Amino acid sequence: MAEKPDIKFMFEPRSVAVIGASSKQEKIGYKVLRNIVGGGFQGRIYPINPGGGMILDKVAFKSVDEIDDEIDLGIVSIPAKYTFDAVKECADKGVKYLAIITSGFSEVGKIKEEQEIVDYCAERGTRVIGPNIIGVYTSAVSLNATFGPRDVNTGNVAIITQSGALGIAMMGKTKVMNIGLSALVSCGNKADVDEAEMLEYLIDDDSTRAIMMYIEGVKNGDRLVPVLKRATRKKPVVVIKSGSSKRGAVAAASHTGSLAGSDAVFSDIMAQCGVIRAESIDEALRWCKYLASSSEPCGKNAVIITNGGGMGVLATDACEKYNVQLYDDLDVLKKAFAMSVPEFGSTKNPVDITGQATLDDYENALEAAAARDDIHSIICLGCETATMDAERLLVSLDKFNRKHGKVKPAVFSFFGGAMIENAISNLMTRGVPIFYDVYEAVGALGVLYEFSRTLHREPDDDNVTAESLGVDVPAIEEIIKKVRADNRLFLLSYESAALMSAAGIRMPQNAIAHNSEEAVRAAEQIGYPVVMKVVSKDIIHKSDAGGVALDLLNTKEVEDAYDAIMYNCKKYKSDALIEGVEIAEQVKPGTETIIGARIDHSFGPTVMFGLGGIYVEVMKDVAFRAFPLGRKEALAMISEIKSYPLLLGVRGEKRKDINLLVDAILKVGAILYSIKDISDIEINPLIAYDEGDGAIALDARILLKPQQ
Ligand code: COA
Repeated sequence: MAEKPDIKFMFEPRSVAVIGASSKQEKIGYKVLRNIVGGGFQGRIYPINPGGGMILDKVAFKSVDEIDDEIDLGIVSIPAKYTFDAVKECADKGVKYLAIITSGFSEVGKIKEEQEIVDYCAERGTRVIGPNIIGVYTSAVSLNATFGPRDVNTGNVAIITQSGALGIAMMGKTKVMNIGLSALVSCGNKADVDEAEMLEYLIDDDSTRAIMMYIEGVKNGDRLVPVLKRATRKKPVVVIKSGSSKRGAVAAASHTGSLAGSDAVFSDIMAQCGVIRAESIDEALRWCKYLASSSEPCGKNAVIITNGGGMGVLATDACEKYNVQLYDDLDVLKKAFAMSVPEFGSTKNPVDITGQATLDDYENALEAAAARDDIHSIICLGCETATMDAERLLVSLDKFNRKHGKVKPAVFSFFGGAMIENAISNLMTRGVPIFYDVYEAVGALGVLYEFSRTLHREPDDDNVTAESLGVDVPAIEEIIKKVRADNRLFLLSYESAALMSAAGIRMPQNAIAHNSEEAVRAAEQIGYPVVMKVVSKDIIHKSDAGGVALDLLNTKEVEDAYDAIMYNCKKYKSDALIEGVEIAEQVKPGTETIIGARIDHSFGPTVMFGLGGIYVEVMKDVAFRAFPLGRKEALAMISEIKSYPLLLGVRGEKRKDINLLVDAILKVGAILYSIKDISDIEINPLIAYDEGDGAIALDARILLKPQQ
């Protein structure tokens, strides 16, 4: 395996070759070359075409071999069946990055053909972007090596998109929305270079102030997660993920060959990383535009200035939705706005300057808000009225934005007819953060606050290991060895109990009986009441088989239960091998939770916490995180489930032992992380008792990965 070239050669190439450059205007190979030349690329350009000659006034080479220069980036735009041969030539020549526009690889099932390309390149130190992409746009060297529009605004928003066609459309849309791009790259099938590597570059790229990602499916989430965490500590990352519905996931699979994964897992892990999740492309672009141009608010106090009560109420609702805090010091508000509000208006927040307000009144109120250090952000709204003059509106808002926009975040939204709509689109082109809808305006301010909170999040100590949590790893490895020797992919209940004990997670005391006398002896040792469960690897659903008996209070009940379990299980599956019956302590009631850890196919090791018991599937009140994580994040995970108040104690109940739940989450995650044989751990229910009284696991289901 040769050394990998620096990612900067992808974003700042000094020389570009277009394999498949064509003089036929309808060809993609023509459009790419036209955009490179027309876009003013600062480096050297080499068209490659078997016919040679001149293309777009550039000498075309018959092959990359003929070029007497180092090639940093090759753009491949020839049919799939010829691609491997062309790739070989490029890799042999030492081309550093190859952006393969060509479709027809893993997304249509040609996985082997795609892998062949990647393997050949990897051995020679060539990196592959794509295939199935639109190319690369990067403002650092004025390179538009895509077949999208030629004319792109340069600026501070970077876009990484898995879908190429959407990427092209976004190039056009950003122009219309007056958004400047620092880079737009598509990653397509992600055969080699993935979004995590592209993100690495953008984190440190000074011209990028906000990053938008369109994702269909995550391939190596365990690599993406740490990069996202690092990125959001520096600049906002807005993600839009498709394939969240069942049918959408199927569509994503056939588009870029992506497995969409669970949307709940994706959503929670993005929040863990501090990523802002948008629901539509339009929303994501609007947010990025605002985030890239706004300064961070110095505090949480927002003020709404409006000439219409209705709009003020809408904005108040929106503030709650987007977690924007309205300033509520009535004395200060009165002092600040008394001069701009008529008697029948209101200086409370929303500050209602009333329908008769002129633009002078707006200017006065805005200046009053800007002048106060304890007002940290402004939401300025307006309904079209007879006193509103579009020309003045343009001038006033533009002037205010120029004067204060860099220091005090503000958003504007005005509502009305053609005059207002024209003014809005005009102000947008001037870079004023104005929106057609109140919710859009408040949403933008809301994500600015969200980003600010991420920037100031206290770092979590995620260096937890199974050992540091007191888990006896060698003992667990010993258990797993025996399960493997028995050719099973699941642990029997006494093995799960032994594993829980090695992890320091309490389970009810238990013993295995092989006849009813042994059962009685065990019950007496443990103490009544007891529960009994069949032990058989042939019976997975013990209750269905009649293999479980609860609440047994004396010798007679234990004897009867033993006979009944044996009878029921034989009847349920006559050839089942029954190893005995487990007798266990019957535990006292508490709050039932569920804790799990599993290898997610997108993100690798993940943990889950939620309200447990038999209604887990129905309630779906669970939260997920990628592992590793620390105590703070585990606590955040617990506190975000809807049933959290139950753990805090309702109606005079005591707070539950949340610290112990945090421990249990970290332990199951750390076990899964360090013992590579395990694929799933699920403890359900884990009964939480009052603070200090701990918790007890009633059932633990542990699965192993199939052996390679
Ligand atoms: N080296 C250099 N040039 C070569 C070549 C090679 N090994 N083999 C062929 N060419 C030339 C061809 O002669 C042709 O030039 P010409 O127009 O002067 O004859 C040019 O490369 C293009 O080849 P052509 O066979 O005409 O292909 P095409 O342009 O019709 O299609 C793709 C090529 C890549 C565009 C097409 O296969 C494809 O994959 N399209 C989908 C692209 C896409 O949508 N990507 C994903 C975005 S979401």
